[in-house]
Amino acid sequence: MTEASACGKIILFGEHAVVYGRPALAVPLAHLRAHARVESRAAPGSIIHARDVGREIWVDTRDTDDPLAVITRLTLKKLGVRANLELTVASEIPIASGLGSGAAISTALVRALAAHFQTALAPAEISALVYETEKLYHGTPSGIDNTVIAYEQAIRFQRVAAEPGSVAIRSATPTISAFQIERPFTLAIANTGIASPTKITVGDVRRGWEHDAARYESIFDAIALIVQQAQTALARGENETLAALMTRNQRALETLGVSSREIEILLEAGLRAGARGGKLSGGGRGGNVIFYIEPEDAPQVQRALSEAGAVSVIVTTIGT
Ligand code: MEV
Repeated sequence: MTEASACGKIILFGEHAVVYGRPALAVPLAHLRAHARVESRAAPGSIIHARDVGREIWVDTRDTDDPLAVITRLTLKKLGVRANLELTVASEIPIASGLGSGAAISTALVRALAAHFQTALAPAEISALVYETEKLYHGTPSGIDNTVIAYEQAIRFQRVAAEPGSVAIRSATPTISAFQIERPFTLAIANTGIASPTKITVGDVRRGWEHDAARYESIFDAIALIVQQAQTALARGENETLAALMTRNQRALETLGVSSREIEILLEAGLRAGARGGKLSGGGRGGNVIFYIEPEDAPQVQRALSEAGAVSVIVTTIGT
């Protein structure tokens, strides 16, 4: 039997615009993990037990398009093996909440399979495999989720194609680099409790962009500028600037139509309780809202967010 795990992730700045070739900054959430276990099976066929969602998925036949069946088949092909396996996945990462649950479960499965067959796969290889299933989860993924999770380090991600915003972006090679966090900072991560599949918000932004490309391109440019300013602030340790940049990024996401009443209720409550800035993180319309806070304000911000309806609030230090 072999086991492996993979972290969740937070997009600090740049979601959605990153699908259109702009840069984004993401960090791993090392303490929030998805887990996978692989065992040999005497009977024919391979089956995945996904108990969190009450599902049993057959790898070979019935569940051909299921992302977990797909990632298992792709990984076995990559490893050059055929086997009857019993696979179990479980996750501490809330589903469809912007924290990368789908990519993390797939990454844990790839790692557990590689370990089971005693093969070392590089983060780039794992990321490329998981990217294939990200397409099943959400149509036109930028690839940032699978990348930050496979590398498990803070990354700046950008996928540039010759033509900005074109769907050709999907085939363009991403530029991935580490970014510097000069001074650690504290984030509160509040879950709205609303599952919001990324596929839907990404699809809606796509339709908006098709309808009025010029307007959307200018919003993406504004987000790219925020990302650039945030990267500079992080490198210089000018953390106070991050709070205002988060709130500016949130305003841009609102104009893209991916915010929601529940997100805005939590934002207002967090800011009123002393958080310095905040934004939705990930696909939006639900999922998680992140706040830049001073560590001493954590208890009161946490309390205010819970009272305002957050189903969970995590306080974590980024950059240690
Ligand atoms: C999802 O975590 C981030 C989005 O930008 C989609 C993507 O990059 O694929 C909304």
